[in-house]
Amino acid sequence: MRQLVIGLMTAIVLATSPYIASAQTSATLDTSAEGPTISRHLHGQFVEHLGRGVYEGIWVGEDSSIPNVRGIRSDVVSALKHIRVPLIRWPGGCFADDYHWRDGIGPRDQRKGTINSSWSRQPESNQFGTHEFFDLVEQVGAEAYISLNMGSGSVRDSQAWLQYMTAPASTGPGSERAKNGRTEPWSVPFVGVGNETWGCGGNMTPEYYSDLLRHYSAYLKNASGPTRPYLIAVGPDTDDYNWTKVVMERAAEWRSQSEGNLLWTSERPLFNGIALHFYTLPTSNWGTKGAQLNFPEDQWMSTMQRALLTEEVIVKNLEVMDKADPKKRVDLIVDEWGTWYDSDPTIPAHLNTGLYQQNTLRDALVAAVSLNIFQNHADRVKVANIAQMVNVLQSMILTDGPKMVLTPTYHVFDLYKVHQDATLIPLTFTASAYSHNGASVPALHATASRDTSGKIHVSIANLDPHKSHTLTLKLEGHKGKTVTGRILTAPEMDSHNSFEKPDVVRLQPFTTAKLTNTTLTLTAPAKSVITLELP
Ligand code: AHR
Repeated sequence: MRQLVIGLMTAIVLATSPYIASAQTSATLDTSAEGPTISRHLHGQFVEHLGRGVYEGIWVGEDSSIPNVRGIRSDVVSALKHIRVPLIRWPGGCFADDYHWRDGIGPRDQRKGTINSSWSRQPESNQFGTHEFFDLVEQVGAEAYISLNMGSGSVRDSQAWLQYMTAPASTGPGSERAKNGRTEPWSVPFVGVGNETWGCGGNMTPEYYSDLLRHYSAYLKNASGPTRPYLIAVGPDTDDYNWTKVVMERAAEWRSQSEGNLLWTSERPLFNGIALHFYTLPTSNWGTKGAQLNFPEDQWMSTMQRALLTEEVIVKNLEVMDKADPKKRVDLIVDEWGTWYDSDPTIPAHLNTGLYQQNTLRDALVAAVSLNIFQNHADRVKVANIAQMVNVLQSMILTDGPKMVLTPTYHVFDLYKVHQDATLIPLTFTASAYSHNGASVPALHATASRDTSGKIHVSIANLDPHKSHTLTLKLEGHKGKTVTGRILTAPEMDSHNSFEKPDVVRLQPFTTAKLTNTTLTLTAPAKSVITLELP
């Protein structure tokens, strides 16, 4: 209540004193608090055969003049390793329901080309298939998330693909894999049972999908390693809570049942997580989504409002899930998230393929707000995959032939990697307001964690594009005397990195946070993202 009063007073002061340079917010941070572990998989990435996401963005082929290891470009791999990408979801997206895995195995020069009917009938060479995907995953040091074809595939295809990936080389499916160059089975920790089956993945009703999910679940077993992958069911589009309700009521079931010669002694679920898709469109209108660059402040504000809405959508989906699953055994997965803008005709045609978009400081703020929300709900949100990794939607990386540029969003993932597998320290406050044209949002948005070595990290986003805002944290249970930090900011709302100017938006040291006794004070400049470290 005290925090609420402070917050309201601050908002009032801000509203009536336009000349105040920096608004104040205060809170207490109990650094010894034991929150849930923040799954590193909240930093998952999504890769789809779409535009230049795979071909050029990742795969250049062994004979390319672009430096590569077995056809996978080395500059991209090295950038992804730096941000500790934990998980890669592939091959779609809508493309997953077009994809037949057998087209992408065997000698590359004998693979037949197919048509990507999900994305503008783009020719699909199948040069990047299962073996190349696992090579990418292993080069990056990530884990695999395979999205199965439920739309135009079958239970039998999915079962056979899983066996091809996981069977010992001494068996039929494993020997075929070994003949194609890989003796050891791969690990397939995550499997998506369909993608957007309410839309591009089959136009299904939630009732029909739930029954199909039960059917698939019976056959999706690994042939070595853990008996089953973690199965991710198709969840709602944004706020379609009825979809969540029906799938949870009809298929969130635990069973003891015999599998081969093994009688399960404990119950296992028919699926482990349910996947929400939530995109941030400045206008919230799929017909006219909003501009990538040179947008008005109204669209900065509406983008922030939409990003903040992620929290409401998560909370409401969890409420629906908990009614069917009061023991909270099914996790919430944010399978696809990120910004989605209108195509920009000023981007050169050779770059502007598929869903390519520039990435500005505004995207960095959306990334920070979204990651804050996911990790503040780390008790129930276990995986989140940004759409998409390279050259598509809210990317980490953009490429133009041999050139590569890191986006503002990439730098946020770099700032936030310290939170991977750390313990959440709950941090709540009522922030001073950022207001524009009658709309208002909290200017500051934050999260905090303690890593395994005891270091505290606090990440703060300032959503206000004009004013700095000050956060004062009274630290409980903290004995350290120093604080360091890094900041991401730039002069304009649409500041971005281009192939000509790759460092306009870059990380820099943040040296003005002060730790006096047990009080931490920082002033976050307008439109910035900061991570502080307190050893
Ligand atoms: O990420 C682009 C597309 O968005 C995906 O293919 C689909 O799942 C979603 O609609």
